[in-house]
Amino acid sequence: MNKKVYIETYGCQMNVADSEVVVSILAEAGYVQSDDIKSASLILINTCSIRDNAEQRIWGRLKDIGHLKKRNKELRIGIIGCMAERLKEKLLETEKLVDIVVGPDAYRELPMLVAEAEAGHKAVNVLLSREETYADISPVRMDKNGVSSFVSIMRGCNNMCSYCVVPYVRGAERSRNPESIIREANELFNNGYREVTLLGQNVDSFNWKTESETIGFHQLLEKVALISPLLRVRFSTSHPKDISDELLYTIARHDNICRHIHLPAQSGSSRILKLMNREYTREYYMERITAIKKIIPECSLSTDMITGFCTETDEDHKESLSLMEWAGFDFSYMFKYSERPGTKAARKLEDDVPEQIKSARLSEMIALQNKLSIKAKKSDIGKTFEVLVEGVSKKSSEQMSGRTSQNKVAVFPFTGCRKGDYVKVYIERCTSATLIGKSI
Ligand code: 5AD
Ligand code: SF4
Repeated sequence: MNKKVYIETYGCQMNVADSEVVVSILAEAGYVQSDDIKSASLILINTCSIRDNAEQRIWGRLKDIGHLKKRNKELRIGIIGCMAERLKEKLLETEKLVDIVVGPDAYRELPMLVAEAEAGHKAVNVLLSREETYADISPVRMDKNGVSSFVSIMRGCNNMCSYCVVPYVRGAERSRNPESIIREANELFNNGYREVTLLGQNVDSFNWKTESETIGFHQLLEKVALISPLLRVRFSTSHPKDISDELLYTIARHDNICRHIHLPAQSGSSRILKLMNREYTREYYMERITAIKKIIPECSLSTDMITGFCTETDEDHKESLSLMEWAGFDFSYMFKYSERPGTKAARKLEDDVPEQIKSARLSEMIALQNKLSIKAKKSDIGKTFEVLVEGVSKKSSEQMSGRTSQNKVAVFPFTGCRKGDYVKVYIERCTSATLIGKSI
């Protein structure tokens, strides 16, 4: 009988994609994935270190699952991913429940490490690699809808944003062989998927050299878009310093490359951006947004913002708000700065904005974004969008739900369509989260 692995994933989409690779690798060791934690003989937690609260959540979760070990002596618990990489062996010392610690570049070793743990030893591998991209591994899909999926196109990060732990836990940047990317996207399409999201920490710096050609991100994106006009292509994440006009023109040329760009600004103050080592100014960011709006007029925009970074004043904060207002983001992910040990900011700058002020600034920012999101949705009323149907709406079985190319959720009355279909939907009204309309 197959042994069962239960895997829980925290953090970014990259971690979701990695968990799919991990399940595929574990099949070699006779494990099948299970949604039932109680029947599993191996529990893996794929972890995130981006902010302290991400790690705190995982510590809490570990305590919760600890009691399962009392009942089942065979049970092994593994911490994998970014937190495993950051804390390494220390994780085993501080948390006796943990048997296995594996960093993001060592997943191929999992069958061996799990066997060691089964034999009663602690097993650790946190080596980072310059080459590993898991290019040849077919991920076991864990999405629930069978319509949209992630495809990892690169790993690691060479940017040195001063606040960020990612380069330390995910290593140096490397691109995956484009042939294997196209093959994977093709397979997804042939299996009924209608949307792929190409994932990388900084997709704009995708770079693959062969003797005869160099493939940059815009060329890769075009190759994936050419698989079929029925396959929607998204990508994440872009870096403002690297997003090129060539890329914008490539998007504009292909209707199936989605009209949505996630372009993390992090701050609207050039002084703070410099301390963050983002390598662009407020003006440069605005110029890129202007280029997007000009070249892809129907494009939606989203961003990431950090409040309360070291030395941030009220003036700097106002500049973040005014940038958001100016850009009119459709949505944003907003965070309080969390100092991460070992980063440049932790070493060189004082985390000097009091918690209370960070919280107040974050609340103000969230309130502004809510206003912007509603404004953006209201401007969609009276327009018609092509919606990729993802299934029955969560709120009503008579409504179908899907997404527009701009990545906005749209619901409309059921008219015989199925998930994976494209339906033209005329938008009649909206809530703060959803567009509501009818199919035409
Ligand atoms: N504190 C708060 N937010 C952070 N992010 C990255 N590092 C930190 C940190 N130390 C945010 C950035 C990034 C997103 C994934 O998480 O906004 O774009
Ligand atoms: Fe993803 Fe960064 Fe969190 Fe790792 S630390 S899971 S790369 S967000």
